[in-house]
Amino acid sequence: MTLRSSILLHLLPLLLLASSGGAMFFYPTPQASLLEHLLVDHGGARAANFSAAVTPLHQLRDRGRRAWLRVAFHDFITADTTAAAGGGVTTGGIDASIGFETGRAENKGSAFNDSLTFWRPFVNEYVSMSDLIALGTVMSVHLCGGKAIPYRPGRVDALHADPTTGVPEPETGVDETLDEFGRAGFNKQDAIALTACGHTLGSVHHGGFPEVVGPEAVTPNNTNGGANFDSTRGAFDPLVVHEYIDATGSRGGALVTSFNETARSDLRLYESDGNRTMRGLYNMTAEAFQDTCAGLLGRMIDTVPSGVRLGDVIAPMSIKPVNVTWDFDGATGGLVLSGNIRSGKGHTAYGDSDTYFYPFAIPGSAIADATSFTVAGDSLTAQTFPITRQGQPFLVPRMSTATGSSTSFTVASAADSGLEEGMTVEVTAPVEQPLTLAPKVVTAVVNLTMTEDVKPGFRFWKGSYDVHQQVTGAIGLTLTQGGEALDHLLLGAGLAGW
Ligand code: HEM
Ligand SMILES: *[C@@H]1O[C@H](CO)[C@@H](O)[C@H](O)[C@H]1NC(C)=O
Ligand SMILES: *[C@@H]1O[C@H](CO)[C@@H](O)[C@H](O)[C@H]1NC(C)=O
Ligand SMILES: *[C@@H]1O[C@H](CO)[C@@H](O)[C@H](O)[C@H]1NC(C)=O
Ligand SMILES: *[C@@H]1O[C@H](CO)[C@@H](O)[C@H](O)[C@H]1NC(C)=O
Ligand SMILES: *[C@@H]1O[C@H](CO)[C@@H](O)[C@H](O)[C@H]1NC(C)=O
Ligand SMILES: *[C@@H]1O[C@H](CO)[C@@H](O)[C@H](O)[C@H]1NC(C)=O
Ligand SMILES: *[C@@H]1O[C@H](CO)[C@@H](O)[C@H](O)[C@H]1NC(C)=O
Ligand SMILES: *[C@@H]1O[C@H](CO)[C@@H](O)[C@H](O)[C@H]1NC(C)=O
Repeated sequence: MTLRSSILLHLLPLLLLASSGGAMFFYPTPQASLLEHLLVDHGGARAANFSAAVTPLHQLRDRGRRAWLRVAFHDFITADTTAAAGGGVTTGGIDASIGFETGRAENKGSAFNDSLTFWRPFVNEYVSMSDLIALGTVMSVHLCGGKAIPYRPGRVDALHADPTTGVPEPETGVDETLDEFGRAGFNKQDAIALTACGHTLGSVHHGGFPEVVGPEAVTPNNTNGGANFDSTRGAFDPLVVHEYIDATGSRGGALVTSFNETARSDLRLYESDGNRTMRGLYNMTAEAFQDTCAGLLGRMIDTVPSGVRLGDVIAPMSIKPVNVTWDFDGATGGLVLSGNIRSGKGHTAYGDSDTYFYPFAIPGSAIADATSFTVAGDSLTAQTFPITRQGQPFLVPRMSTATGSSTSFTVASAADSGLEEGMTVEVTAPVEQPLTLAPKVVTAVVNLTMTEDVKPGFRFWKGSYDVHQQVTGAIGLTLTQGGEALDHLLLGAGLAGW
């Protein structure tokens, strides 16, 4: 888009306060913008509800959040990459099929459905459950002190259970365990290191695994009988390796020391190369341990079925326009460009500082020909963002709603533009599906009807749609014309509070 005419926004002092409904312009794309929000906005008034569950991880009641890493492991490990080497396809991996597999003994316990229940409201057209499973790993690791694992979006949710079974369990023999890792593309050394990385967080619980942890672990302070893998349960650090090699503290945890020899799966795995990999992890710097884990966990979350193409790594944006949209002002009825500009204290990694939002609203009459706006401010490098030219067809946030399974929406365009030929609105909705808590996204194309509504200089079209199913998250509207998307709007985010 050209910069023929550009608006300059100065962040400080603050611009006018405006309330804004939906979100028309997403930078750089709806998917990257939404997921970046979850990755980055942990602090400040507009923090994503997602992170409320992850921070602070050191609190005792946050067991559920550590489980996120384990959920990703169980979803991933049924990947079959063996055919891919010979030109065949990879199946499984991070595809949210775990949601259909909670009845399998290898996935026993409530951790899987508990996590899916938490993530469910965030799923929509742009955000798959499998992207959230991967995001859960990135966030747990980073917020517990590990490295920022590069995060790519674009995973696609399976619509059925993975036919491949086989998640290592405490009693699984080491050969079978290594076969399962090998099938997923991880050799012996990878398998040992990945398991040590995973088992630096959390515990084995008597409640779920009485054959591993005895009843003596249950105390008034520890009603689930959690036996920690290392002495820093909530810290992503190399301590589990040190305590294993040095036989101090938790000595590697219950899967090493269990009273039940059959259930000492970590000991068998760690000893499968005579402790060589564990000694290597022991002898590297803490920094190198973090790099090793970030690399392996990155490979884990990027293991996806052939045909799924992951997008570019999502990097924290230093300046991010949010909810920028054309709309009609509630009070004056006039056209207005409004939104929020987010800035933080320098985003070196995901969510390392609070983010702040500066609302703005500019009357359309003041910016007749603008095709972009530029954000500048003290100690900021100015950045320019494209917008559609005033008067081009757009979904009007104030005249569009979603309630339950229904949505009705309004499109406005300049009365004299003549640009409306063949416009339709694609409606997407995440809905409940049987046998899993991961929603499925359904789509419908809706024709628009011209209305009698008038505002000076504008014409209006309306449409509505009822999904007739239980909607679980935000409804997406995309205004299209000849296969091209002209505008996007997300409605009814509910609990997720996008
Ligand atoms: C030989 C392979 C593995 C076996 C047999 C195994 C088994 C287990 C078991 C039995 C638990 C206890 C669950 C509970 O009581 O709630 C556990 C916890 C955990 N596992 Fe593994 N695991 C393996 C590999 C991995 C890997 C590769 C990762 C991650 C990359 C991982 C991440 C975790 C985490 C984070 C927990 C703690 C969950 C919590 O505190 O609620 N595990 N694992
Ligand atoms: C953007 O709009 C959504 C939906 O109205 C709202 O929940 C969210 O708080 C807004 N975010 C910002 C930063 O204005
Ligand atoms: C040890 O674990 C195995 C496998 O889970 C189980 O079958 C066996 O009953 C356990 N033994 C004891 C004493 O708990
Ligand atoms: C159990 O909790 C109480 C109160 O928080 C604390 O004083 C006590 O030291 C704890 N006991 C153990 C064994 O952790
Ligand atoms: C591996 O290391 C553990 C912990 O130090 C030790 O108990 C075990 O004997 C070692 N096994 C081998 C085969 O070296
Ligand atoms: C670590 O490296 C040092 C020096 O090479 C060696 O002496 C020591 O045995 C190693 N430790 C382990 C646990 O492998
Ligand atoms: C998890 O939820 C699904 C969908 O509601 C259900 O079919 C399944 O039985 C649940 N699994 C467990 C272990 O509760
Ligand atoms: C929408 O319009 C197209 C083209 O005019 C037409 O073929 C189609 O049947 C219409 N759909 C509905 C649901 O009315
Ligand atoms: C955030 O999520 C919790 C439940 O996890 C919910 O009770 C709360 O209403 C949500 N907040 C917003 C702003 O949606």
